[in-house]
Amino acid sequence: MCGIVGYFGDLKATDVILNGLKKLEYRGYDSCGICYHNLNTDRFVTYKDKGRVKHLKHDFDYNGDNHFGIGHTRWATHGAPNHINSHPHSSQSGRFVIVHNGVIENYKELVAKYLSAVYFTSETDTEVIANLIEYFAVSYPVELAIRKALAMLEGSYALLIIDKLNPNIIYAGKNKSPLLLGLRNDGVCLASDLMAFVGVSSEYYVIEDKTFVKAEKVDNEYRFSMYDPIGIEFTPIRHEVSLNDDEINRGGYDHYMLKEICEQPSVIRKIMTNYIKDNRFHIKQDVLDLFANKKRIYILAAGTSMHAGFVGKINFETLTKIPTEVFIASEFAYNKPLLEKEAAFILISQSGETADLRACLVDINKMGYPSLTITNVKTSTLAREATNYLLIHAGPEIAVASTKAYVGQIAVLAILAYVLADNPKIDMIKEMSRLAVAMEAIIDKKEYIHDLVQSHLIKRNCFYIGRGIDYYTSLEAALKLKEISYIQTEGFAAGELKHGTIALIEEDVPVIAIITQRHINKNTRSNIQEVKSRGADVLVISTNDTSEPEDDIILMDVHDLLSPALAVIPTQLIAYYKALDMGKDIDKPRNLAKSVTVE
Ligand code: M6R
Repeated sequence: MCGIVGYFGDLKATDVILNGLKKLEYRGYDSCGICYHNLNTDRFVTYKDKGRVKHLKHDFDYNGDNHFGIGHTRWATHGAPNHINSHPHSSQSGRFVIVHNGVIENYKELVAKYLSAVYFTSETDTEVIANLIEYFAVSYPVELAIRKALAMLEGSYALLIIDKLNPNIIYAGKNKSPLLLGLRNDGVCLASDLMAFVGVSSEYYVIEDKTFVKAEKVDNEYRFSMYDPIGIEFTPIRHEVSLNDDEINRGGYDHYMLKEICEQPSVIRKIMTNYIKDNRFHIKQDVLDLFANKKRIYILAAGTSMHAGFVGKINFETLTKIPTEVFIASEFAYNKPLLEKEAAFILISQSGETADLRACLVDINKMGYPSLTITNVKTSTLAREATNYLLIHAGPEIAVASTKAYVGQIAVLAILAYVLADNPKIDMIKEMSRLAVAMEAIIDKKEYIHDLVQSHLIKRNCFYIGRGIDYYTSLEAALKLKEISYIQTEGFAAGELKHGTIALIEEDVPVIAIITQRHINKNTRSNIQEVKSRGADVLVISTNDTSEPEDDIILMDVHDLLSPALAVIPTQLIAYYKALDMGKDIDKPRNLAKSVTVE
């Protein structure tokens, strides 16, 4: 979702900002813009419009010295994606210019109370913030005016604010939406995520909720100050930027998604390296303590991470015998079930920033339940605000469609369940090593899968079917195909089709069956016959153990509990090649964002 970048320093600000925005593109956006101070003319310049950062970069003139500015990629919430609604936004006089990520819930009340005389040009909540600052700046010094305005905002915001009367300070404020500050000798950079700092700063600071920040040049030195909600200055913790350019480049692949699919065996091996100590899987004791004497585990997540949660449920119930329930985060946040007292929560989130989950975590913390976040981002909000966290070590996942994070989540959930189990009856190290090899084997056959995609008519009403753990893989497979190819696809419990949905099966409707479990092989095969006899174009993904000679994709055998991490790979490749052949924007599918920071 929206990305923001601000820079003040010796480098050319427009270069840093535009390159930073480019690196934040993966978050998902529909418009972008920049405002910078041209030193030669001593004027501020704003460019913005609907469309891509490459147009912002190439279609405008950035001649002249500039060292101070802010930029934005917008994922529309209030008002259509167009020139007027794009950020930066200005106050009515033009004095204050701001970029914003988040949603201000009380913007209408603020307009009614303070800004009824203001003429607004856009439909955004952001323009209200700029004008609220201007309103207070009439009576108070600028810093106090900004802080007064921030204190009145309800909702989520990461904000960068410029006062055109003083092009020597970037102000920032933050609540719920992520914001980081990177510092180097020759400048200060502020951005929504670490990606923007690669090549710009080697150290960074996480800005906490309700913190007010000033980035400025004092005595020829760039510095920043951070203030808590009551205005007391504090020193935040310094972190190292651990990413490098190689990790965030496409590395010779046409798309990040294909690169990330191919990285999955190495993600499994990296997870093993990180979690094996003295030849056994090891989880830190304070994480294990969260689950001591618990009668129930609740897993909360969204989208692909929720599908990993379903697989986690099966692992937990099989290995630890603790009943485990999975909830859609956005539902749980406002429609809670009756909760067991002796329970622990697991939140699964690749980004660690998903607003629906954050809303749940705030309540979980209030209720006093222990919580564990399983995430790819150590410094993320959900990692910091849960009782503890575990990392999936997948490396940056840049394609919007999640692939390697999903298998990483499954692997970490399996390791956690295994370590918590009294008598797990599975050699998890051996099984995970085998999984990595089996993954490589199917990735090696990717061209064959491309051929299969071209010979089957996957173009409308596609279905994935499976039973048990394969049903969960079907849900994930369907999400992958629909989100990047835009083909209507459903994941279905194979036995449930005949209770209504089979009415949609007619000549050539594609049905892809997943069968990795021996005990349901016959049942799913019967369901395949039911759809075949109604004309479906059936494609079967099975394992050596469950296969029949005419099956289309046959995987190596891996342990039942880990099979979703393998069976999902051909479905990721089906989605990838279908979208590729249809000419879709694979890494940045329409309407979607990588980091969903609004509820
Ligand atoms: O960052 P998260 O794992 O919390 O994101 C949750 C979903 O938005 C995400 O998994 C989404 O469904 C995927 N991008 C789909 O590929």
